[in-house]
Amino acid sequence: MSRKVVHVIGTGTIGEPLIGLLCDFKKDLGIDEVTFHKNTPLTTDRSKVVSLNKRGARLSTHKSKYKGFIDIGLKPEFTTEEAINRASVVIDCTPSSYGLDNKEKYYNKFLNNTLGFISQGSEFGFGKPYARGINDDSLIRGEDKFIQVVSCNTHNLSTIVQTIALDKSDNNLLDGRFLLIRRANDVSQSKRFVPAPEVGIHRDQKYGTHHARDAALLFKTMNKDLPLFSSAMKVNSQLMHILYFTLKLKHKTSIDEVIDRLHSNDRISLTDKINTNEVFSFGRDHGHFGRILNQTVVSIPSLHINQHKDEISGFCFTPQDGNSLLSSIAITEWFLYPKSYEDKIQCLKPFFFNEV
Ligand SMILES: NC(=O)c1ccc[n+]([C@@H]2O[C@H](COP(=O)([O-])OP(=O)(O)OC[C@H]3O[C@@H](n4cnc5c(N)ncnc54)[C@H](OP(=O)(O)O)[C@@H]3O)[C@@H](O)[C@H]2O)c1
Repeated sequence: MSRKVVHVIGTGTIGEPLIGLLCDFKKDLGIDEVTFHKNTPLTTDRSKVVSLNKRGARLSTHKSKYKGFIDIGLKPEFTTEEAINRASVVIDCTPSSYGLDNKEKYYNKFLNNTLGFISQGSEFGFGKPYARGINDDSLIRGEDKFIQVVSCNTHNLSTIVQTIALDKSDNNLLDGRFLLIRRANDVSQSKRFVPAPEVGIHRDQKYGTHHARDAALLFKTMNKDLPLFSSAMKVNSQLMHILYFTLKLKHKTSIDEVIDRLHSNDRISLTDKINTNEVFSFGRDHGHFGRILNQTVVSIPSLHINQHKDEISGFCFTPQDGNSLLSSIAITEWFLYPKSYEDKIQCLKPFFFNEV
């Protein structure tokens, strides 16, 4: 049997914890080796590379950047091309548009050697959109080689729609409206903070922002055409995105039924908390290096039903990149272990919480 090598490109907010998770659960996931690509040799990032090396991950970079890494005491073991060529699965965790560039420049060249290529939220058009637990049934072996794990907020929005509306019946959603209240940047980031709340632009004529558009495309992979519309804004916080939703349903429901539905989905967490810092803090204390892997954390006290309009509204918190980590690992295992990937990812169960 060939060695199973997973290669992660990018060591940022999503790449760094993903490399760590893959290393820590290598044995359970049936992975022989984890490699990663770091683009820039920085002394400020040296500590994380050293730590990832200690956890078993092997460094690669561009040939022309070897000297820069060696000069700061780090030892690249593979060039960019070598690392991609020897990988069974490549997970691209670079920011906007680099994934598409990498596809053009590298991935298309290694189609025969590699089982699959995965990109993250901002790489619209990279491949089939995917979120664990939403459209697994749409994956086609042999055909789907490029996968785009949708953004963390799209995971949240799609899970709410699936669980509250569609699990009852496919035609139950008459209208879905969403406001993504986004944190300005991650706690790991120093750039792009905003001094005060900043409203977003509706760039998409039909769906508003990319969140509803990407969710609609996700459901389209299962031939479901849904009426979704989203808006987004940023607030001057570093702690978690929040989703405000209003779903107009065809079939009457009650708060108790909605809570039962949410409760029955083990990828959803419920909470009586209403403060973001408390939810974030729970993740820090009980998650994998601060990450909980649930798709969403729904605040029970925020749920409301307008019985006259058959509308349900509420707030939920988006786990800090946890749902994207889950989907990235689930799809990696789908490529590596077609028949047993669902069993393999059960090792991540300790990082799912019914209640936060
Ligand atoms: N942040 C989140 O919470 C979150 C959640 C879900 C999905 N995502 C998605 O994940 C992706 C990455 O976002 P992020 O927040 O992790 O970004 P980030 O923190 O800015 O990290 C980006 C990483 O990409 C590397 N990089 C930049 N240019 C590169 C290039 N040309 N070739 C190779 N590597 C390059 C950077 O390199 P070096 O450090 O190596 O110099 C850095 O490690 C985006 O698609 C985003 O939508 C993010």
